[in-house]
Amino acid sequence: MICNNLSVNEEGHLCLGGQDTVMLAAKYGTPLYLMDEDRIRERCRVYKKAMCEAFGESAMPLYASKAASFKQIYRIMKEEGMGVDVVSSGEIFTALSAGYPLEHAYFHSNNKTDEDIAYAMDNGIGYFVVDNREELDAIERIAAEWNLTQKVLLRLTPGIDPHTYAAVATGKVDSKFGSAIETGQAEEMTLYALSLPHVHLVGYHCHVGSQVFDSDVFLRATAIMLDFASKMKEKHGFELEELDLGGGYGVRYRDEDPEIDIYANILQVGMAVKAQCTALGLKMPAVRMEPGRSIVADAGMTLYNVGTVKRIPGYKNYVSVDGGMTDNPRFALYHSSYTVLLANRVNDDKSTFRCSVVGRCCESGDILQEDVPMPEDVRRGDLLAVLTTGAYNYSMSSNYNRIPKPPVVMLHEGESYVAVKREAFEDVCANDI
Ligand code: LLP
Repeated sequence: MICNNLSVNEEGHLCLGGQDTVMLAAKYGTPLYLMDEDRIRERCRVYKKAMCEAFGESAMPLYASKAASFKQIYRIMKEEGMGVDVVSSGEIFTALSAGYPLEHAYFHSNNKTDEDIAYAMDNGIGYFVVDNREELDAIERIAAEWNLTQKVLLRLTPGIDPHTYAAVATGKVDSKFGSAIETGQAEEMTLYALSLPHVHLVGYHCHVGSQVFDSDVFLRATAIMLDFASKMKEKHGFELEELDLGGGYGVRYRDEDPEIDIYANILQVGMAVKAQCTALGLKMPAVRMEPGRSIVADAGMTLYNVGTVKRIPGYKNYVSVDGGMTDNPRFALYHSSYTVLLANRVNDDKSTFRCSVVGRCCESGDILQEDVPMPEDVRRGDLLAVLTTGAYNYSMSSNYNRIPKPPVVMLHEGESYVAVKREAFEDVCANDI
């Protein structure tokens, strides 16, 4: 199994966090998002421990909450002592509603509106990760009006290709995010930020990409960022206080995906940062990392009920489920791989039948996965599980075709509870006049 929170019980049922998915589906209905809270907490602790060991006590992981954003996640992050990365006023509102202390929140986005900036500042956001000059102007203007000094980091592009899919590669010079070091714009932004009386520039941020397996990427990004920081110190006297290396560690969606030892990798980055700071005469900065996927992805699973099974002789087989691109648009968007199993009979022979697992939306692109091995007699009423759906599934879900969103049920120490309720039809048209 791709993650050690998965198992199969004596009845041949798939279990997550030791709990029988057939029982969970019977209790909560389908489609259903499951989230293994214990696994999420374990991942947070791995990051905290590794970063503390690698970079010292001042280091802190920030959970990139775009991966899965709902109130209970922010409560868990608060309890685990994690900072958070937020990217919209909606995420800020959710965090606030959960009682998350916003001084530990870092506000991203390449296009924050004046309303976003005012809302975040009004609620005491810790940091803005500033993308561009217009944003700096708006922060300065609003901070001056309110007579406060706002802490900011500048988002820079180190010019690195992370070898992942195009939609999530962000560290290259031509990215829509941040200011490039190579073009001189990062230096211009530094000078400009230093000149603004209501802005306190504390450091630099970069995020090279997501679902990254090349363990070299963080090392290369770190080297470029610290080299730039030392130039800014020499030329403009800017002393780096914080260095935020972004998120991006890849996770296993299938057996053949590699497994990254995140703990070991972070220790390696730590050694590189220390060595380089010494060599460049820089003070060791407070280091931040922003994992999203690697905190929540393999804590998650989606359960569906099998409906129509269509066999087109000589062509193709389709197994349709009661969800689809509305709860998981990632295959439609990125052709993402997933492991798919029949949760009610995991051990049945799957060697003779292949199918496309599709959703119930009115379009052919509504596919969850292609070429999936299944028991030959897969039929209406079977329970189908898509594994590793904890990241970027619920958070990217939609109401296309007016399909209500599934609930999120958390699993914790042998118990289960609803963290997000199943939407009703009334919720889907709640704002219709
Ligand atoms: N920090 C920044 C600034 C980011 O843009 C991201 C992800 C992260 C941290 C977290 O990266 P992670 O550790 O999760 O790889 N919807 C896409 C993923 C988009 C990622 C966007 N930024 C997907 O489903 O694959």
